[in-house]
Amino acid sequence: MDVGTMIKTLQDPMGIPFYPILFQVLMILTFSLHIMFVNFVIGASFLTLYGYIKGSTYWKDLSRSMARATTASASMAILLGVAPLLFVQVIYDVFWYASNMLSAAWVIGFILILMTAYSLTYIFYLKRDSKGNSFAIFGIIAFALFIFAGVIMHALGYQLLQPAKWLDWYVRGDTADTSGVSLHAFQLSRFLHFIVPSFAMTGILLMLYAWYFKDRNDKDKEYLQWVGKMGANMAFVFTAIQAAAGLWWLLSLPSKFRFFLDPFFLISAGLGIVLLVYLYSARKDPVRYAVPGILLAFLTILGMSYARESLRMKYLGRFDYSIFNYKLNLDYGSTFLFLSTFAVGLVIAGYLLAVAYKSGKAAGEYVSTPSMNRWGKVSIALLLIWIAIVAGLGIVISIKNYL
Ligand code: HEM
Repeated sequence: MDVGTMIKTLQDPMGIPFYPILFQVLMILTFSLHIMFVNFVIGASFLTLYGYIKGSTYWKDLSRSMARATTASASMAILLGVAPLLFVQVIYDVFWYASNMLSAAWVIGFILILMTAYSLTYIFYLKRDSKGNSFAIFGIIAFALFIFAGVIMHALGYQLLQPAKWLDWYVRGDTADTSGVSLHAFQLSRFLHFIVPSFAMTGILLMLYAWYFKDRNDKDKEYLQWVGKMGANMAFVFTAIQAAAGLWWLLSLPSKFRFFLDPFFLISAGLGIVLLVYLYSARKDPVRYAVPGILLAFLTILGMSYARESLRMKYLGRFDYSIFNYKLNLDYGSTFLFLSTFAVGLVIAGYLLAVAYKSGKAAGEYVSTPSMNRWGKVSIALLLIWIAIVAGLGIVISIKNYL
């Protein structure tokens, strides 16, 4: 059986419940958010460690803040990883599941690795001042584990693109290898393209830090200036390194893809250059450039995520696979429930983020405004209605199935 026929045979015969473009757009959007927070995790956990080892007062303060930023960003990265995980399972089900089965031990181990890295960061944060530099080891292991989590995700995403090799990976000698203990594919240039931006994005995070606390009287102005300047320098230098890493990845792609002509690639590379020029200027006044800087950086990530998806379509097009040919089994009810869950989630998450933002902006106790109170009440009401609908539907469908 040729690979194209094998893939068609393995597809879900039920088809997908809505036009694939919807899942694809949402997958790219949520992947962009996921990878941005992944970048914050890796960059912030590195700065936590680096600041701790450097040991001056400013570096120690920054290291403490970065430890908090690491755990908060890890929570966001995990939360925002679930969404593209669901979408990739809908439109690339055969590829994602096959890749997961081939490395199943690492898929399960991934959760343990993340839990350990997360816990070690917390221990490091809480215990760091107790005994000299001895707690650095917790920071080192946490950082290494976060990077390793990236290696696993990368291998899963890269194995997925190479169905012609699956059989070779599955067979060892003349028996099937069902252990799932190997990671079969790794492309350094691609991996670096996702990891190097961690230091650029964390540079922008530092610029935002200086911007966010600028009006607080209890914060040392010189310290904030130092953080902002260092952030802007980091952001600029690592964006330049990232451009070189991107070029390396581009050159290592199969030449018949002619990916350098891909419109998504060209747009995202253009955005990358605009970002680089912007960050060059940002070094003059990091606080003023911080907010537009993160928006421009996110736009660039979004462009790159579109290019990444366009590349995946080129890889899989070789096997005559296109998500646009997936069998459609339109189901408006479940699609509506899904999209309304998404919208409700945005309102609630927006409220939580707004409270977090406002409560840290001014020194002292946070006093909620009437409009924030209303937003809070609407969020709780929406959550209750959503639980009632989802639980109600579940009960009704279970009873119907039983009868
Ligand atoms: C801090 C821990 C994590 C790191 C460092 C990390 C890193 C990465 C990287 C580097 C990629 C891109 C791989 C590539 O295309 O070559 C990626 C993709 C992805 N990650 Fe994460 N990730 C983390 C946590 C998670 C979690 C917890 C989930 C799920 C709940 C998740 C879900 C995904 C998904 C669905 C993709 C895209 C797969 C695809 O489109 O092929 N990640 N991640």
